[in-house]
Amino acid sequence: MGNIEASSEPESRTFTRRDFFVNIFMGSSLIAGLGFMAFYFLGFLFPALKGKPRRKLYVAKTSDIPPGHNLRFTDLKGQKINIVNTGDGYTALSTKCTHLGCQVHWKKKEKQFYCPCHEGYFDAQGKVLKGPPPKPLNSYPVEVIDSAVYIYVDEVYVG
Ligand code: FES
Repeated sequence: MGNIEASSEPESRTFTRRDFFVNIFMGSSLIAGLGFMAFYFLGFLFPALKGKPRRKLYVAKTSDIPPGHNLRFTDLKGQKINIVNTGDGYTALSTKCTHLGCQVHWKKKEKQFYCPCHEGYFDAQGKVLKGPPPKPLNSYPVEVIDSAVYIYVDEVYVG
């Protein structure tokens, strides 16, 4: 049988520069990994933190909405949206008046939206000009790509 000698001296090991960098690398990888896990876990628990998912919808060719004109579009939820070419760009605004929900109409000559229910007026950006509406018309982001107009609406889930 062999003899096992126990050493009373603790093993001394020098901490090299390589050990230092290996520890730094492993520590930062661990922290990054835990950070990603926490981000996705919190997103799973609190979906509202990630913001509303949006869908990009094709509306029309730019030539279909000449300057000063309006096009009425219906989104995935059946909500009507006015797409207006202001001459400086496009705006996408809800047709629903912010007072009591009547439908607003585009007045091409005045370049304003008009609500016939209580004489509410909005400008081409949806800002209240006069009348009882308490706030601007709801707006949607618009994007023009290769002579085509797109808007971003809230995602709709079916199921
Ligand atoms: S509902 Fe539009 S002004 Fe009252």
